[in-house]
Amino acid sequence: MTPEGYKLELPKWYDLHAHFRQGNMMSTLIADHKTMGCAGILAMPNTAPPVAKIEESKDLPYWSLETYHAMLEEAGAGDMETVIVPLYLTKDTTPAMIEAGKKKGLLKAVKYYPPHGTTGADFGRPLSEYIENGVFAAMQEAGVVLCMHGEEHNLASEGYFGRETNAEEYFYMERAPRVLEAYPNLKVVCEHLTTKVGVEFVKQAGVNVTATITPQHLLYTIGDLLQGLKYYLYCLPLLKFEEDRQALRGAVTAVGNAKFFAGTDSAPHTEKMTRCGCAAGCYTGGIAPQLYAQGFEAAGMDLSTDEGLASFEQFLCRVGPAFYDLRIPKECFKLEKTPHILRSRSDGIVQLPLGLSQEEETTLPWSVCST
Ligand code: DOR
Ligand code: ZN
Repeated sequence: MTPEGYKLELPKWYDLHAHFRQGNMMSTLIADHKTMGCAGILAMPNTAPPVAKIEESKDLPYWSLETYHAMLEEAGAGDMETVIVPLYLTKDTTPAMIEAGKKKGLLKAVKYYPPHGTTGADFGRPLSEYIENGVFAAMQEAGVVLCMHGEEHNLASEGYFGRETNAEEYFYMERAPRVLEAYPNLKVVCEHLTTKVGVEFVKQAGVNVTATITPQHLLYTIGDLLQGLKYYLYCLPLLKFEEDRQALRGAVTAVGNAKFFAGTDSAPHTEKMTRCGCAAGCYTGGIAPQLYAQGFEAAGMDLSTDEGLASFEQFLCRVGPAFYDLRIPKECFKLEKTPHILRSRSDGIVQLPLGLSQEEETTLPWSVCST
C-alpha cells in the first residue's frame, strides 16, 4: 500500500469518455472535471437530441458538432486543452458526413451505441450496417476513431447476462472481429471494458485497437451491486465477476501498457429510479483520479514506488493522449494519499461512493491537492 501522506505529481490528464448532457447541469459537470485535474474531455453525444450531424444547416433532427462544441465552451470548457465530441452513429450517418467532418477539422471520432442498449442509445443502428454502408470505410480512410460501446443488442435475457456468457462477451467474440476483418486499420476504442474476453480481444488486436476502463469496473464486481441492490452502481456494461476485474486490473497495471487508458464514463442521473427500472450510469466527476488510485492499490500497486507511479501515470495521463494525438499538458496536478471527506450535495447529483450507503458523507483514501 502507498504510505499515508504520499504525494504524486502528475501531468493534467484527459478524461477520454464522459457525459456532460445539456442545459443548466453542464457547467457544474465541467467544473467537477476541472477540479480533478482534467485538461480536456471527450464529451459523449448521447444528449437530447443526440449530436449526430456535422453542421447546423443540415436539415436533420439532431444537434451538430458545431452546436454542441459551442454549448460546452459556454458551459466552461472553452479554456480546456482539448474537447473532442464524437459523432453519434445513426440511420442518417453517411460516408460523405465523415469526409465533410474531417475536412472541417471538427471530426476526430464517432460513437457506436447498440440500439436501445443503454442510456440515450435509441438512435443507434446495428454495427453491421456501418460495415456495409461505407461509413467505417470512410473513417478508416480519414483516420477517424471509432468509439465502441461493445455490447450486443436485443439478446434474450439468458444471453444478456448468463452464467456462461453476456452481451459484452458476445460482442467481442462475434461482432468486433467482423469490423477489423473488413477494416484492419480502423482506429478503435473498446470503451468501458468489463470482461476478460474484452481485454483479450484488445490485447491480441493491432496497435490501432485500444480500450478505456472506468473506476467503477476496477473497484467493484456485480456482487457489490447486488448485495443491497446498490443501484448507484448500475451502469452499462454491467459490473462483472472477480475474474473479469482481475483481467482489468492486470491490463491497467501491466509494465509497458500501451493500450488501456482512462475514460471514466462519468454519467450523472438526477433520477436514478424510474417506475419500472433504473437509469444506467455512475457519476465520478470530481473524484475519478482518486478512485483510479484506489483501484491501482486494490490491484496491488504501491504508488510511491517507481513501478507503481509509472504504471498509474501511463494509464491516466499518457496512453490516451498518444492514441488521440493530444499534447501532454505541461501543467500538473497533485494526488495525495490523505483521507478526503466527500459530502452529499444539494444539486441532486450523487458522486458514486456516496450512493452506496445511507450516510451523508463518506471518506475517500485519496485527495486531489488544491495547490
Ligand atoms: O452506464 C452508462 N451510462 N452507460 C452508457 O453507455 C451511457 C451512460 C449514460 O449516458 O448515462
Ligand atoms: Zn458513456
